[in-house]
Amino acid sequence: MLIVDGKTYELPIIIGTEGERAIDISRLLKDTGLITMDPGFVNTGSCRSAITFMDGDKGILRHRGIPIEQLAEHSSFVETAYLLINGELPTPEELSKFSAMLNEHSLVHEDMRAFFEHYPSRAHPMGILSSMVTAMRAFYPTLKDRSQEENITITFARLISKLRTLAAMSYNISRGHKVTYPSHQLSYCANFLKMMFDSPVRPYVIDEDIVRALNVFWILHADHEQNCSTSAVRLVGSARVNLYAAISAGISALWGPLHGGANQAVIEMLQEIYNSGGDVAPFIARAKDKNDEFRLMGFGHRVYKSYDPRAKIMEEIVHRLLSKLQLNDPLLDIAKRLEEIALKDSYFVDHKLYPNVDFYSGIVLRAMGIPINMFTVMFAIGRLPGWISQWKESLDDPDWKLHRPRQIYIGLNERDYVPIEKRGK
Ligand code: CMC
Repeated sequence: MLIVDGKTYELPIIIGTEGERAIDISRLLKDTGLITMDPGFVNTGSCRSAITFMDGDKGILRHRGIPIEQLAEHSSFVETAYLLINGELPTPEELSKFSAMLNEHSLVHEDMRAFFEHYPSRAHPMGILSSMVTAMRAFYPTLKDRSQEENITITFARLISKLRTLAAMSYNISRGHKVTYPSHQLSYCANFLKMMFDSPVRPYVIDEDIVRALNVFWILHADHEQNCSTSAVRLVGSARVNLYAAISAGISALWGPLHGGANQAVIEMLQEIYNSGGDVAPFIARAKDKNDEFRLMGFGHRVYKSYDPRAKIMEEIVHRLLSKLQLNDPLLDIAKRLEEIALKDSYFVDHKLYPNVDFYSGIVLRAMGIPINMFTVMFAIGRLPGWISQWKESLDDPDWKLHRPRQIYIGLNERDYVPIEKRGK
């Protein structure tokens, strides 16, 4: 119930399947002339969604009802992508059909190579990826002989398959190396590793443990309900642009260091600590200092106010992978020390700041041989099924509306235009 100027309004309560509650204010402006203010949308639900459930206090993450721990243990990235997009785990026939489609659409138009060749060598791969995805629209327009539904399914397959190919291509072209094409004999993840690292002088040998680690890495990133990049995809998509343009917006949003770019920022921070002698205390002190903009990267989350369940699984992969590859990464020791101190420190405890998915993910990527400027690209490939499924859900949403927030104007009141010759006098 809301009372404005003595008048009472009943505001309906919406209840989700996990008991989450929201006040429905969709008629507020019409009925009362008032809008709500919620900078950063901290308290705002933007849609109803049946894809992902998170409980930030309990550290729960489920996709289509299935806990992330079970998906990480038993599923593949391709299967999880199918689950997110279609709502159910695939049957064996459905999975092989989906995999065949990804194989069918894995090549990239040869003319797209020319774009890569003309980017300045210092261009960040996320900027390149975002513009390449927009460019895909020109190379892969709607197929006239197919229904709208078939066109949408083909677009999903093109995006999931080609984004991976584009990422590996951009890496090789940026190094002046030859491009390796995808192979129909390899799985989605094995194909990516082969395309990234195979060379005529040093053939890349597929290691099933690395393939498994990559599957889990991408499963852990596959969706995270209405985060910044997903909201960007839904917002841009709400103007009913084509899916390529909406995904490109998601990639741009993900690039930011407060979002997907944090995986790169974490390694840069760990490297800085390492270079300065390895003492974590000054960095903890800086993170707590209100006059210093420095934040402990890979710590904190808008929703999780306890341990991010993805971070736990990521830490397990780090240990498994480093021991399998017999690697000793000094940055892992620094990360563990940082975590140990931060989890006991009253600032981090009181602010409920725990390691998030990005804290350990960079160490996994380093062990695989992924260069640091490609880290956020790896996040983007993983998040793509989530963006697609959220976009698809928005298409059929009965509450769908063009996203158009309001504002409270705090500028100057009306005044007259001053001719240029009279200004400054
Ligand atoms: N280090 C130090 N202090 C922090 C940190 C941090 N990493 N994160 C939040 N705080 C403090 C912040 O200074 C503020 O303190 P106070 O209330 O005393 O002014 C308080 O915690 C709340 O911060 P906020 O920025 O209002 O909270 P938020 O929910 O908007 O922040 C966040 C979420 C992820 C942007 C933030 O925790 C952060 O900047 N973390 C570092 C970047 C990072 O790791 N990002 C990856 C997020 S997980 C991957 C993804 O889904 O994108």
